[in-house]
Amino acid sequence: MSQHLLLSLVILAISPIPGAFQDSALSPTQEEPEDLDCGRPEPSARIVGGSDAQPGTWPWQVSLHQGGGHICGGSLIAPSWVLSAAHCFVRNGTLEPAAEWSAVLGVHSQDGPLDGAHVRAVAAILVPDNYSTVELGADLALLRLAEPARLGPAVRPVCLPRASHRFAHGTACWATGWGDVQEADPLPLPWVLQEVELRLLGEAACQCLYSQPGPFNLTLQLLPGMLCAGYPEGRRDTCQGDSGGPLVCKEGGRWFQAGITSFGFGCGRRNRPGVFTAVASYEAWIQEQVMGSEPGPAFPIQPQEPQSGPREPTEENCTIALPECGKASRPGAWPWEAQVMVPGSRPCHGALVSESWVLAPASCFPDLISSGRPPRDLEAWRVRLPSRPRAERVARLVPHENASWEDASDLALLQLRAPVNLSAAPRPVCLPHPEHYFLPGSRCRLARWGRGEPAPGPSALLEAELLSGWWCHCLYGHQGAPVPLPGDPPLALCPAYQEEEEAGRCWNDSRWSLLCREEGTWFLAGIRDFSSDCLRPRAFFPLQTHGPWISHVTQGAYLEDQLAWDWGLEGEETEAQTCPTHTEHGACGLRPEAAPLGVLWPWLAEVHVAGDRVCTGILVAPGWVLAATHCVLRLGSTTVPYIEVYLGRAGASPLPQGHQVSRLVISIRLPRHLGLRPPLALLELSSRVEPSPSALPICLHPGGIPPGASCWVLGWKDSQDRVPVAAAVSILTSRLCHCLYQSILPPDTLCVLYAEGQEDRCEVTSAPPLLCQTEGGSWVLMGMAIRGSREIFAAVGPEEAWISQTVGEAHFLPPSGSPYWPSEGNNLCPPDLARASGSPRAVLFLLLLTPLIQS
Ligand SMILES: *[C@@H]1O[C@H](CO)[C@@H](O)[C@H](O)[C@H]1NC(C)=O
Ligand SMILES: *[C@@H]1O[C@H](CO)[C@@H](O)[C@H](O)[C@H]1NC(C)=O
Ligand SMILES: *[C@@H]1O[C@H](CO)[C@@H](O)[C@H](O)[C@H]1NC(C)=O
Ligand SMILES: *[C@@H]1O[C@H](CO)[C@@H](O)[C@H](O)[C@H]1NC(C)=O
Ligand SMILES: *[C@@H]1O[C@H](CO)[C@@H](O)[C@H](O)[C@H]1NC(C)=O
Ligand SMILES: *[C@@H]1O[C@H](CO)[C@@H](O)[C@H](O)[C@H]1NC(C)=O
Ligand SMILES: *[C@@H]1O[C@H](CO)[C@@H](O)[C@H](O)[C@H]1NC(C)=O
Repeated sequence: MSQHLLLSLVILAISPIPGAFQDSALSPTQEEPEDLDCGRPEPSARIVGGSDAQPGTWPWQVSLHQGGGHICGGSLIAPSWVLSAAHCFVRNGTLEPAAEWSAVLGVHSQDGPLDGAHVRAVAAILVPDNYSTVELGADLALLRLAEPARLGPAVRPVCLPRASHRFAHGTACWATGWGDVQEADPLPLPWVLQEVELRLLGEAACQCLYSQPGPFNLTLQLLPGMLCAGYPEGRRDTCQGDSGGPLVCKEGGRWFQAGITSFGFGCGRRNRPGVFTAVASYEAWIQEQVMGSEPGPAFPIQPQEPQSGPREPTEENCTIALPECGKASRPGAWPWEAQVMVPGSRPCHGALVSESWVLAPASCFPDLISSGRPPRDLEAWRVRLPSRPRAERVARLVPHENASWEDASDLALLQLRAPVNLSAAPRPVCLPHPEHYFLPGSRCRLARWGRGEPAPGPSALLEAELLSGWWCHCLYGHQGAPVPLPGDPPLALCPAYQEEEEAGRCWNDSRWSLLCREEGTWFLAGIRDFSSDCLRPRAFFPLQTHGPWISHVTQGAYLEDQLAWDWGLEGEETEAQTCPTHTEHGACGLRPEAAPLGVLWPWLAEVHVAGDRVCTGILVAPGWVLAATHCVLRLGSTTVPYIEVYLGRAGASPLPQGHQVSRLVISIRLPRHLGLRPPLALLELSSRVEPSPSALPICLHPGGIPPGASCWVLGWKDSQDRVPVAAAVSILTSRLCHCLYQSILPPDTLCVLYAEGQEDRCEVTSAPPLLCQTEGGSWVLMGMAIRGSREIFAAVGPEEAWISQTVGEAHFLPPSGSPYWPSEGNNLCPPDLARASGSPRAVLFLLLLTPLIQS
């Protein structure tokens, strides 16, 4: 068995239960121990090393049923009394009615007829009046049976410790129950009572373990009245369904109940021993509740004074367990790398996940999937592991049940004939629990998986940096879908792999796995790169969703808690977010709302022309930047200047250098009808710039003004340091624009009004772009400033045909909003405008006369 109640990650306070208590004001009386024989089962052998209990070994074990099924454990402490845990009976702050519960006594296997067992109705459930939630303690309950239990060889009470009873730490005790055998892995048929040997941990030692931050940096404060039992290395524990059951220790030939199974962080996790209610602390309360009951529970005097055992370690020098998995002497030399050799096929690469099990893609074994039968030649299969002189034999092959139809489940487990002795090599890789949150920026590497070719060149082993869930999800996820929060299973994991981008290489091969490192420990984080068409960042199916299946099959794979939780800036994106509506592979216009990258606009490019001027450009497709013609071409010049484009630069931003991308411009395309308009030039880059948070194409707007959009002019405050600034603007109605500038404006021009106070915020360099964020969240490019202006922009919409023909991958959003360029007559202009023309202040004045598109 393994544990009980998985603590929810957020601790909710529940108000104390009103009224469930005794009114007895009598003081408890000391009972003489001898009136009820307790804690002595009939002698019987116990299965050594096994986990099924022998019938009759634990005759006080009670199964508490509700709605016909086992819910919690309990212990018989007197013919009419069962001790259990309060949290079994208090739901949402309310004590459940006793009539819903029954106690099953003398039961061993819960499958089929309960031979020799008998059932008793529960007459009353008593819970301490200050019990609220498990982590605040007092997690115990007394159940009064409607009729006394029939005592016999299979039904006997356990002894209870007095308040003065001291259980020495380090004592080997036993916990019993029908709970899950691992997290989310129920006890299999025939539901035989399980037993596990647990060592009592001293208070300081246990507090020390629980002070080690666990997943999501969770720690626990132990309180008086709690005790811990288990092992720092985990793996043996109580689990869900064991709650309320006893933890018993043998002293002087009798079994005393030291604890009541209460809670833990997960089950059997490293440094997370089980937490039990310390029964001795509640002697007075128990005595008070059972007063007058004959015979009552027995509290024998402690047979001998506890020896002063080994000195208890303090919090400062306690022993914490380190992960046993995921250590590699150097990256790339993976001690878990397993090669499955099937006669007649190339080796299939997988990973060692425990002493006996190898995880590999099921697609390596197509016969298995198509026939659904175990392979006949398994005898001839071999597994090669690092530093093992001979290849291992294979005993069993277990495909994932969904392997045949779901790429995300393309997994099979191979059991080795004999377990291998773990050492520096072979050593298993760590696997993530389902709630694992790989932090954005985690260092990851690709590893061979399945029948993939070795990577072309050493860069395949270089480190990649994990993108935040928002980017990965919105690049590969569904339109408008909510982005999974940290702790929810992600749909994909995306490593941004700079080296590969720089080298311009492209392996669109699904046969990679993703290893990510936390605190020097490697986790198998993802499988099967599913990104297609060389699109990067790559996307991997997360392995964490398969943790329960892997631990169910292997009963011992190394699932390890999250080791890094320093969320930093990016990790703080915990508010629910949705992806902008117009995203798909090669998505455009993505920028996280709570932009953790601060000043970074992923489509803003610096266009350095022949080393003498710098102007803004906008990435409109992986290989194309849109800029103002006058910036890149001098009138009359016939030669194409030397132009370099930089992306991922944010002036004085703290971004690592790795985010910067530079490309040469190999051609400049102008619209055929180049006169003096429109002043737009498309720059073809020397190679593609793959999508990443620092370089992502913007969407283009086909015409009209997107309803409900907020718009900005983007530029640099100063052309030397080039820190991006965005000034909020309103786009004026076409009538206003036309009337204001009628003498000078070419058609297809957008005019803007800077929001109050923004006029001087944007001392932008030449040719700033005009952007809007649509209601759906996508960012769209509306136009580029006309030479020398900060208020007048050449719209990109009318150039849709030319842009789309030149750049196949440019994303124009579907048209929305009313058309901006209706044919209209000059006679609509208010008479005073001619004088005001050209002055931004005049526009303010006009506001009083004509409504804006939006404010
Ligand atoms: C829990 O109790 C609160 C208030 O008493 C109630 O609003 C809520 O619906 C309850 N939740 C459940 C799951 O019963
Ligand atoms: C409940 O009350 C008892 C007795 O007053 C006390 O010893 C114990 O610490 C209290 N427990 C909690 C969880 O408040
Ligand atoms: C650890 O703590 C125990 C208990 O206080 C103490 O006896 C022991 O000397 C300490 N060990 C070290 C190495 O500090
Ligand atoms: C297989 O797929 C079904 C349907 O999506 C799902 O309910 C089930 O949990 C999957 N099995 C495993 C082992 O993940
Ligand atoms: C496993 O390794 C340990 C330590 O290296 C060694 O003492 C032990 O004999 C080995 N066991 C087997 C079965 O090889
Ligand atoms: C990637 O896949 C596409 C189609 O599946 C193929 O045309 C292309 O050659 C592949 N590229 C590489 C580098 O393998
Ligand atoms: C983890 O939690 C502790 C205590 O709650 C806190 O002091 C610490 O700053 C947290 N660490 C991180 C990285 O969030």
